[in-house]
Amino acid sequence: MSDPADAADKPAANTEPLSGADSGAHTEAHTIPAPPIDPDRRTIARATTASYEAAPEDVSRVLLLYSGGLDTSVMLKWIQEEYGGAEVVTLTVNLGQPGEEYDVVTGKARQFGAVAAHVIDAREQFAHDFVLPAINANALYGGGYPLFTALGRPLIAKLAVEWARRSGCDTIAHGCTGKGNDQVRIEATVATLAPELKIIAPVRSWAMGRDQEIEYARMHGIPVRGGSEAAPYSIDDNLWGRSSEGRWIEDLAHAPEDDVFQLVTLPEDAPDDPEMVTVEFEAGVPVALDGERLGLVELLERAGKVGARHGVGIVDQLEDRIVGLKVRDIYEVPAAAIVLTAHQELERLVSTIHQNQFKAQLDRQWAYLVYAGLWWEPLRSDLDAYMRSVAAQVTGAIGLKLYKGSVRVVTRTSPHAVYDQALASFAESGGLFSQTASPGFIELWSLQSRMAWRLRERESGRG
Ligand code: ARG
Repeated sequence: MSDPADAADKPAANTEPLSGADSGAHTEAHTIPAPPIDPDRRTIARATTASYEAAPEDVSRVLLLYSGGLDTSVMLKWIQEEYGGAEVVTLTVNLGQPGEEYDVVTGKARQFGAVAAHVIDAREQFAHDFVLPAINANALYGGGYPLFTALGRPLIAKLAVEWARRSGCDTIAHGCTGKGNDQVRIEATVATLAPELKIIAPVRSWAMGRDQEIEYARMHGIPVRGGSEAAPYSIDDNLWGRSSEGRWIEDLAHAPEDDVFQLVTLPEDAPDDPEMVTVEFEAGVPVALDGERLGLVELLERAGKVGARHGVGIVDQLEDRIVGLKVRDIYEVPAAAIVLTAHQELERLVSTIHQNQFKAQLDRQWAYLVYAGLWWEPLRSDLDAYMRSVAAQVTGAIGLKLYKGSVRVVTRTSPHAVYDQALASFAESGGLFSQTASPGFIELWSLQSRMAWRLRERESGRG
């Protein structure tokens, strides 16, 4: 546990107000003997940029969001060392990321000194409370990113708050860098739901480069997967998709290398025969795949598998982060490519032209709020209320054809379709729609546009 007096006595760097919040100061807090205290300096030493950032003396038990990877393993040791023997409780959240071995993760956590290591299977909650609203909002940020990471972070942070409280932790630690969106999503959530908790973000503050981090890991018996030469891709995934960043992806002129695709089959290697898949919805909820009723988690996982087999859902996207940077992401989102495509088509079928035009604007706003880390913003729940109202009609089935990377809608059925085959047909339909009424409509419909056209012609001397 840190001694408050000791912690208040930051190294000389803190005499410069601008560097007061710098991590370097914290790093040395417990190793450098305290110089005599100037009482006025205490506030500088304790100064942090945001009220929720932990000063060393605030930290005695930490809830660490732990993946079992290099960064969070180094963090586990680093927190114990840098915060004067603070205890660390780890939390690992299962959101359906494929291939995870959770007993290995908790084994590592204990081995590296965690006093407790928890794993939560949050797939149901993730699917129902986060992915489902995103489906009803047709959520695609920047036109191609179905927000799987942005949807996962507020849930992970909410669970971190619950487990921090349950475990008597004063601080939450996460492994986000200072350049990404994820720090915003996690910290905004914690600060909203638990103003009493503090936050530390070691990667943002420890100022270790990759080589130093690997050196630190070696010194502390933390295995470094795949050797130390090339930095791996930065991966994040869950049942709604997978993203890769880093390495050559940062070179915008570099076309994707095949080894980045670990989820979706390359379209050129996908089966030569197309496959039909039918997604059925009830009031906006996907309930069946190819006629088989499934729980939401299983449905999304199965849609992901069939999509991956046919090479669908590869997105190479240039993205505007909230923290100012542009970044390129390679996304593999086979489940979203199928379910969102089907949902959007069915919604279009059961809604009027006015609803369809209006909703696209709300969908865009919804995706932006969630991307930007404002899951708990009331506008998001206001928008959800509208989405639910529309969803009440979204019942029916959409058939899709998957073939070598493409998803194409081929069939549509719904009891709520705002569609009448007899009316739409070229044959004479009579009744509700009279073709002889059309000329009168056209004359009035085009009136203002015709007047404006004529005026302009006259003004330009042509008329
Ligand atoms: N660009 C996406 C986003 O901001 C994906 C981020 C992936 N996160 C990661 N830690 N690799 O949501």
